[in-house]
Amino acid sequence: MRILAVETSCDDTAVALLDGCSAIAERVHSQEVHSEHGGIVPELASRAHMKILPGLVREVLLEGGMVGLEGIDVFAATAGPGLTGSLLVGLAWSKAAAWAAGKPFLGINHLAAHLYIHYGQRRRVVFPAVALLVSGGHTSLFRMNSWQEILLQGSTRDDAAGEAFDKTAKLTGLGYPGGAALDIAADSGNPDICSLPSPMADPALPEFSFSGLKTAAKLLWEGGADRCDLAASFRKTVVDILVSKLMYQSKEFGAKSVLAAGGVTANSLLRKVLRQECAEANLELFLPDRHHSTDNALMVGRAAAAALEQNPLASSPLSCNAFARWSGTSLSPIACP
Ligand code: KG4
Ligand code: ZN
Repeated sequence: MRILAVETSCDDTAVALLDGCSAIAERVHSQEVHSEHGGIVPELASRAHMKILPGLVREVLLEGGMVGLEGIDVFAATAGPGLTGSLLVGLAWSKAAAWAAGKPFLGINHLAAHLYIHYGQRRRVVFPAVALLVSGGHTSLFRMNSWQEILLQGSTRDDAAGEAFDKTAKLTGLGYPGGAALDIAADSGNPDICSLPSPMADPALPEFSFSGLKTAAKLLWEGGADRCDLAASFRKTVVDILVSKLMYQSKEFGAKSVLAAGGVTANSLLRKVLRQECAEANLELFLPDRHHSTDNALMVGRAAAAALEQNPLASSPLSCNAFARWSGTSLSPIACP
């Protein structure tokens, strides 16, 4: 089953060609136009998606040895949550291609897709499991009884962890988006010099709050803190909060596997601490490689493959629309059933 998957929910334009859950070819183009503005400019993101997407599709098809869309069995695109204008570019392209080729279309939930990067791999997730989704737009904890039952336990009450990383990086002159740059700066700093608060740190509480931490970092920076020391404290504080809550949930739930996904899972300290803690607790850890932590289309294709394994006739109507926010409690790969 050949799936052509498209992801345009934010500022990465991505296309993947899959055979079931296996990647045949994939491309991600990270838009650079936003860095000079210090944040994502939605209209510029939509325009860039329109410009970049057709070329990426051509490259992926070429690498997959295909001349046109004839050999594609299913078309899938992220329907939301995300930036409406950006989503509409990938969604409209994918729906039109499916209609023209006379093949099914699937509108995919972006949050589910991040977790589905772990679907259909040689090492299978053993349930029950807990999952941490931690990106630029979201920070949430889920309990998973199976791939069909993914239940939200709690989310951030204000900023997402990636957003806090980006804002702190920007404040300290590390550019935008600066999560990865702050991670590198933190490697040269001492995390014990700058004292930062740990908001909502109770491990039993499956909710997060990062805006106070960002403000505290601002005060320390204005007070003359060293960039690398501040970055190291900030990174350690965020990682401690994320990991302690995830491990608490895993114990409470009797989890056998721990899943992590989303852009912040590219963070080197988060990866290291998760590996240590899961090894100590004898838990199977599923961590995406760095390339597939941030937005990509392979995860969208795997979410589509999973939906089709559950129901081979699954499809979304062509009326499937983009949506900016997800406010459900049970996560499913198809956004528009
Ligand atoms: O999953 P993603 O590509 O997009 C969303 O769905 O939001 O995540 C992007 C986020 C950005 O906030 C970026 O700064 C953050 O992931 N990020 C990192 C690192 N690499 C990317 N944050 C901390 N450390 C990193 N190494
Ligand atoms: Zn994402």
